[in-house]
Amino acid sequence: GKVRAPTHIISTISDDRGEEPCYAGVPMSTIIERGYGVGDVISLLWFKRSLPRYCTQFIEICIMLCADHGPCVSGAHNSIVTARAGKDLVSSLVSGLLTIGPRFGGAIDDAARYFKDAYDRGLTPYEFVEGMKKKGIRVPGIGHRIKSRDNRDKRVQLLQQYAHTHFPSVKYMEYAVKVETYTLSKANNLVLNVDGAIGSLFLDLLAGSGMFTKQEIDEIVEIGYLNGLFVLARSIGLIGHTFDQKRLKQPLYRHPWEDVLYTK
Ligand code: ACO
Ligand code: LMR
Repeated sequence: GKVRAPTHIISTISDDRGEEPCYAGVPMSTIIERGYGVGDVISLLWFKRSLPRYCTQFIEICIMLCADHGPCVSGAHNSIVTARAGKDLVSSLVSGLLTIGPRFGGAIDDAARYFKDAYDRGLTPYEFVEGMKKKGIRVPGIGHRIKSRDNRDKRVQLLQQYAHTHFPSVKYMEYAVKVETYTLSKANNLVLNVDGAIGSLFLDLLAGSGMFTKQEIDEIVEIGYLNGLFVLARSIGLIGHTFDQKRLKQPLYRHPWEDVLYTK
């Protein structure tokens, strides 16, 4: 009989060999005919399944709300400086993307990991936050440079409102809010930030949709899919900032001496 030569690559998310490319088995024409959006495409290529509309809409809301946050944040600043150094689009984009990490935009997976672990173990917010403090770890998903108790992050509120209306359960988000209530008693800027809101709400999406087994949820959290939402979203803004600088023909950026403390 036929002997199948061993392959060097295994791939399970897409196939371009037939008459038309398929995402997780769904042909392009179906994607267009059914009026699928980018949330559906993300569902197919990341989660390998079609998710209900309220889930794909939530994904799209995350993408839209995280697309940009002005020129002053780490990522945009890097992209702007790189574009002004005369570099190309891809260099400017990745220079911005490289700032995404535990402090900026890339705390979603850790927020999901820590909130899930604390909730599933039945820790009170006090036990959770003080336990993190003892370990010397800042609570991912909590804290913001400019947002505070009196200047809440509108993105967080919009995500929470959407989930309250459409999700069958928001137990992880409610836990994150209880954590926020406790951290706010310590300092005004220790709000639930957009990473923490997405991290906790995505746990609710995964658990409440009935589309994922417990093992699949653990794997998604373990591998760390969720920072991908911020990376994808913010690429939109970083590309915009790059075009903006080029359109404005901005010269090479040099930071002013006056703004540096030269010291020994
Ligand atoms: N958990 C516990 N305590 C905190 C936290 C936190 N998440 N954030 C700040 N604090 C406390 C600490 O006591 C800190 O002192 P330390 O430096 O000894 O740890 C003190 O507040 C002051 O912290 P600052 O460094 O002045 O706070 P800053 O405004 O620079 O930090 C930041 C903002 C980086 C977001 C911080 O709150 C943090 O690390 N949060 C966790 C990571 C996170 O969620 N990042 C995503 C932010 S949203 C976004 O980027 C889209
Ligand atoms: C962002 O989305 O870039 C922000 O939350 C970070 C910031 O410092 O404003």
